[in-house]
Amino acid sequence: MHKLRIRKMTRADLPVVTKIEADCQSHPWTLLQFLDGFNAGHQGWVALRNYEEREMIIGFAIVTSVMDERTLLNICVRPAFQKQGTGRALLEFLLQQAKLENSAKMYLEVRASNNPAKDLYESLGFEKIAERRDYYPAIIGREDGHVYSLSHFS
Ligand SMILES: CC(C)(COP(=O)(O)OP(=O)(O)OC[C@H]1O[C@@H](n2cnc3c(N)ncnc32)[C@H](O)[C@@H]1OP(=O)(O)O)[C@@H](O)C(=O)NCCC(=O)NCCS
Repeated sequence: MHKLRIRKMTRADLPVVTKIEADCQSHPWTLLQFLDGFNAGHQGWVALRNYEEREMIIGFAIVTSVMDERTLLNICVRPAFQKQGTGRALLEFLLQQAKLENSAKMYLEVRASNNPAKDLYESLGFEKIAERRDYYPAIIGREDGHVYSLSHFS
């Protein structure tokens, strides 16, 4: 795998992050939603890789924490760089952090049809704990959300 660097997301990253989000999601968060998240204390991380002699952001993840529980709110990798280990590296980084900071659990929610993401989460030990019917807007109608959690950070 290519060398990746992960660092904290800053407000200056948000235009690039919003573009990656728009390229990845059917119903993407807007710049304003990312900014609101920043103001609400969400923590963002970006994954960077050298590409054509410059370092570029190729993915990001956003988490929120309440007491000793974390929720992964978003994770996204530029389409051209998917399936190269970046999503796994970002999530492993977040789990490592959760462990270091003595978190008890991490939660996330994912569209029922999002098999790539579900495969990634399950491969890292997340287990499905609930289904939320019609939780997400879909291209046609609505789609269920699947809630996952992980309690043991290895
Ligand atoms: C989900 C996502 C972040 C994964 O990032 P990625 O960098 O492509 O993932 P990785 O290369 O690290 O792959 C890790 C694992 O994810 C799963 N995976 C990734 N892409 C997959 C695909 N197209 N089909 C099936 N499984 C896939 C596999 O289990 C893979 O492990 P493997 O490489 O050992 O087979 C990426 O597909 C993405 O940005 N999707 C659009 C945004 C999104 O759906 N985010 C999640 C919202 S909850």
